Amino acid sequence: MCGIVGYTGHQPAKDIIIDGLKKLEYRGYDSAGIALLEEDKIVVRKKKGKIANLEKSIAGEKFYATTGIGHTRWATHGAPTDANAHPHINEDGSIAVVHNGIIENYMELKEKLENEYNIHFRSETDTEVIAQLLGVLYKEKHNLQDSVYAASKMMKGAYTFAAVCDQEQDRIVAFRKDTPLIAGLGDGCNFLASDVTPLLKYLDQIYLIDNGEMVVCTPNQIEIFDEDYKPVQREPLHVNWSVEDAQKGGYQHFMLKEINEQPKAVSETLGRRLDEEGHVHLDGISLTKEDLARIHKIDIVACGTAYHAGLIGKYLIEKFTGIPVEVDIASEYRYRDPLVDEHTLFIAVSQSGETLDTLMSLREAKAKGARVLSIVNVVGSSVARESDDVFYTWAGPEIAVASTKAYTTQLICLYLLALYIGRLNEHITEEYAQNILGELKLLPKKIQKILDHSSKIENMAKLLYNRPQVFYIGRGMDSAVAYEGSLKLKEISYINSFAIAAGELKHGTIALIEPETTVIAIATQDFLYPKMYSNIEEIKARHAHIISLVKEGHEEISQISTDVIEIPDCRDEVSPVLAIVPLQLFAYYMARERGENIDKPRNLAKSVTVE
Ligand code: G6P
Repeated sequence: MCGIVGYTGHQPAKDIIIDGLKKLEYRGYDSAGIALLEEDKIVVRKKKGKIANLEKSIAGEKFYATTGIGHTRWATHGAPTDANAHPHINEDGSIAVVHNGIIENYMELKEKLENEYNIHFRSETDTEVIAQLLGVLYKEKHNLQDSVYAASKMMKGAYTFAAVCDQEQDRIVAFRKDTPLIAGLGDGCNFLASDVTPLLKYLDQIYLIDNGEMVVCTPNQIEIFDEDYKPVQREPLHVNWSVEDAQKGGYQHFMLKEINEQPKAVSETLGRRLDEEGHVHLDGISLTKEDLARIHKIDIVACGTAYHAGLIGKYLIEKFTGIPVEVDIASEYRYRDPLVDEHTLFIAVSQSGETLDTLMSLREAKAKGARVLSIVNVVGSSVARESDDVFYTWAGPEIAVASTKAYTTQLICLYLLALYIGRLNEHITEEYAQNILGELKLLPKKIQKILDHSSKIENMAKLLYNRPQVFYIGRGMDSAVAYEGSLKLKEISYINSFAIAAGELKHGTIALIEPETTVIAIATQDFLYPKMYSNIEEIKARHAHIISLVKEGHEEISQISTDVIEIPDCRDEVSPVLAIVPLQLFAYYMARERGENIDKPRNLAKSVTVE
């Protein structure tokens, strides 16, 4: 949540920073601002709303600064107003700060600054405390980096921030604590950013900044200091994402582009892990037979869409390996004192690798002795760096807030992991594993087939987009698909939606079914087909509008449904990867018909780095 960009070089900084902020808008978009080092003073411009509002408000102004910082905000402390937007400045305006995170002891620091230094605060934010604190410390130390270091020792919570000072032209000092920060190594210019996407246009070498580290950027140098203020020597990391990966490429929305990228993404995720003989090789994972013998249970922990991937993971891992699996929402897991020890394999699933609750759960499990493995998309992210083993999804950058290709590639990783462990502990035969792998290899083509017929779903959305509520039901792995389908719909179309295991419907929720209700019934598990048939009959008796999602040629359920969506035939084990695709399209087209802001839905952010 919240995006930070810093630039120092020889080009006008304003456009570079604003352009960079646009790439980070997925992290929050309720206000934006910029601080520029113009000759001997700092010029701050900030505006409520999207970056476009800020751009419009400064369109007539000329700026010459070649150093500056910018911010796009997802409000935590204080409503999204011009005053609460970042950057925040100290009392005399000599220091400006942008911040991502929450300072837990900000009230205590604020009172101290008000009472002991007679400081008057102008905003309701915790961030202003950093600016005011730096102002006070600078009077004593006469040096921004010493002041930032001293301030970092006084704060508690999550506080990644970047600061500039009018006395120190061409210099940005930043500190990382619990939310992401990278430094980009350019030619005669250097950058700071919350992730790599704003930098792809300018460079391909970055430094990953670790927790507790301070970075000092000038046009010709990036210096990193550790928690004890000792210089850190670090090799830069080469980034191989292209600029095109982070652009819309002719699609109306990033979400549609990312849905359509799934055949390629799935094939990439799989292809990298299969050798010529078709055996699974898990790059980044060093789990041996002996390691596995010590594992008595597996905990999968994640948030949002990644949690839904975890729910499917439970079915797969238990079926392929015989090891019991618990799946938990990270914000619950970390506070329930989970039963974890050295016999637990902890699996974190996260697209961004920066979700704070997931990261904190990982630390909790690690402290209790668990072996930590993560399934992550963003290379070098915090979750990846703190794990014993990392299994990258290789989905490429996912920009739309609603996750699509990251989810399907998370599923592929879970299949591969489950098959690998299942063979290692010999719970499944090689023949069975090869059978499933054969089915997985067919998925890119089958997903493409669904995408090629998306006009049917588009037309369905044209008829249904005004429905007040859409419910999702399924059994077995289809219940997890139902949760994800429902989340997709509600997060981008704002239509009231929930999902429930079909067999549970009659224990209360069926009371909500009326003739106007739309119910999407997912029935892709052959062995549960007769059970789903009965559940659909129960809904039909209440005259609901039923859309069934079935494998091609499954006529019985089609005959009792109002409408049908078909996916190509496949084994039950792999159907979740196919079944979600029409549901992503359905959510997308429903939201588009309603004219919603699909890539940036209200109140949401792609990367949630607050609790
Ligand atoms: C946010 C996003 C979701 C995402 C969740 C977990 O809520 O809007 O799309 O599933 O965070 O994010 P992660 O990066 O950990 O997968």
